[in-house]
Amino acid sequence: MKSKFITLEGIEGSGKSTNLKFINKYLDKKNISYVNTREPGGGPIGPKLRSLLLNVDSVISPEVEMLLMLSDRKDHVDNLILPNLNEDKWVISDRYMDSTIAYQGGGRQIDLKKILATASILNLPEPSLTLLFDLPIDVALERAKQRGNLDRFEREPEVFHQRIRDSYLSLSKLHPSRIKVIDSSQSKEDVEFQLLETLNLFFKANG
Ligand code: TMP
Repeated sequence: MKSKFITLEGIEGSGKSTNLKFINKYLDKKNISYVNTREPGGGPIGPKLRSLLLNVDSVISPEVEMLLMLSDRKDHVDNLILPNLNEDKWVISDRYMDSTIAYQGGGRQIDLKKILATASILNLPEPSLTLLFDLPIDVALERAKQRGNLDRFEREPEVFHQRIRDSYLSLSKLHPSRIKVIDSSQSKEDVEFQLLETLNLFFKANG
């Protein structure tokens, strides 16, 4: 099978990182070589952009935030995502373009048409599969709090996170063949079962 680009999405504390390990094991069993990466921060200038974007002391307007996220993405795509896909490695990215739509569009309320028009000049590749980890915001934010120091986004009020969740769910209805919703409020075993079924179906459809 040709190399694939898979993205993980969801609100804070939705379990993306925990479930990445399960996805890795699944790919290992199939002898697929892959790289794990993340946004913001996956390209050469990414770590600096990430620390600027997440730092609680940064004062950043919604538009500048969107432009920094898109700059980070272009750097990531050109220097890590495309080179690996071209070498027949799969790329698994913790967050990608749907995060900008959900956070800067839904959360910060920037007009979606403006976000899409700006992104359109960047020639960004579309993921083959997006796993959207979904759960109620109160449960998710409690999990994020347990992890310790809250970043600039995690400190936003509940309404901000609710708009992000709503925006993600609308996106999943708009792109049902690419975005698969995983009910992340279930037990670890149940979430892993959902992932297994989703990955099996993806392999069947692309085999
Ligand atoms: P993380 O904590 O899941 O690694 O993500 C970093 C934060 O950046 C998270 O709060 C979501 C936010 N973010 C955006 O607001 N827009 C984007 O386009 C991306 C990639 C992340």
